[in-house]
Amino acid sequence: MAKRGNFSSKIGFVAAAAGSAVGLGNIWKFPFEVGKGGGAAFLVMYLIFCFIFCFPVLVTELAIGRKTGKNPDGAFKSLGFRNWSFVGKLGVITGVLILSFYNVVAGWAFGYFVEIVCGNFEIGGQFTDFIKDVVKVGGYGLIFMAATALIVSRGVSSGIERAAKILMPVLIIIIVSLIVYSLTLPNAMKGIEFYLIPNFSAITPEVVYTALSHAFFSLSLGMGALITYGSYVSKSENLITSAALITLADIGIAFIAGLMMFPFVFSQGIAPDGGAGLIFITLPGVFESLGSVTGVIVGGLFFLLLSFAALTSTVSLLEVPVSYTVDEHNIPRKKATWLVALVIYIIGIPSLLSNGASGFFSSFISYFGSDAPKSFMTVVEDFSINTFLPLGGLLMSIFVAYVWKKENLNKELETGAPNFKGSFVEKYIDVAIRYICPIFLGALFILTVLEKFFSVSIF
Ligand code: PHE
Repeated sequence: MAKRGNFSSKIGFVAAAAGSAVGLGNIWKFPFEVGKGGGAAFLVMYLIFCFIFCFPVLVTELAIGRKTGKNPDGAFKSLGFRNWSFVGKLGVITGVLILSFYNVVAGWAFGYFVEIVCGNFEIGGQFTDFIKDVVKVGGYGLIFMAATALIVSRGVSSGIERAAKILMPVLIIIIVSLIVYSLTLPNAMKGIEFYLIPNFSAITPEVVYTALSHAFFSLSLGMGALITYGSYVSKSENLITSAALITLADIGIAFIAGLMMFPFVFSQGIAPDGGAGLIFITLPGVFESLGSVTGVIVGGLFFLLLSFAALTSTVSLLEVPVSYTVDEHNIPRKKATWLVALVIYIIGIPSLLSNGASGFFSSFISYFGSDAPKSFMTVVEDFSINTFLPLGGLLMSIFVAYVWKKENLNKELETGAPNFKGSFVEKYIDVAIRYICPIFLGALFILTVLEKFFSVSIF
């Protein structure tokens, strides 16, 4: 059997895992959810949820991965619980589904970079036509998937780790420069106020569970991406400090992405609750108002940043099914990577067509209790991100707490972490995995299924 790869350093591993976590979720979704969810109030909830629910799940995923040195499916088998390996398989399938449409949006980001660099600021107003243009968007998506596959095919240390070590610092430099610039714009402080002064009256039960589900997605949890990355980590590594660094990096970058975004949005007097179009529809106009040269530089950097953030995430999404194919089907990494990437690109074609190009896929299906047809892409998103991720997280915490058991988890966590035994973190993880995570993830799963698929809202 081919030798499995390894991360060559702690910093490389943390950069790769943080790269997985930091993605379109942080830079595209987070600001518009903050915009809809009452500004700082949403931010506060997101921060709390990351630490209360996500951190323990993150730690357990890493522990399962490192203990077994396997992909999510193989991991459950190698722990001796074959009948739980469906959780790993569900994770692999979820990764395939998420990547199939995530890559489409990543293609938009990359396409916007090209358009803005060519001086086409009108692209914001042309958004609906742009996403309908199958040849263009399909082409950008193809380039993006190929770039992802190129990195993954080179293996763990010379592909994934190397790319993250370059892309993550560049990403931070771009965000910080854009923050400095955006703060010089008129009304910048209004944006910062909206972002940082909480309006707790905007918090509805829906905002609360959106924040929970976003925190979970944002940390790449529930599908075994971190089991997979954990499987390449050395036994001497302290998984607790690594998990803390990954969480802090994810939160930190989401936070500073907001600092960058709201001054831009408020400088043009735009409502911050513009939803998914906030970046793609409104921002190009903001960049245009900066003048042609500055606009190209600032706008180009912005969409380059978005593309880089997406790239380190698509890499981790692809790595999950690739490691599964390599481990379980004994196919060499290079071949497995290109094959899996091609299949996922093809699975993504209906999503690509579902933004106006094809009537059939754009109004694909109506769920129970609702007449509003959903696009194919929304359906895939509802199943993967909104349903399978919390379900996967729920099953994983039940597995670790009640099947694999605390003693085994702790043994793995103590390896490389001499102070773990008897610490507060040890006690907290135990309580969280046994009670807090199953209860809240179970509730999140039920609420989402009822609301998304049956239009039943409990609140
Ligand atoms: N966390 C990534 C983001 O915020 C998305 C992702 C989810 C990546 C699950 C890998 C696994 O965009």
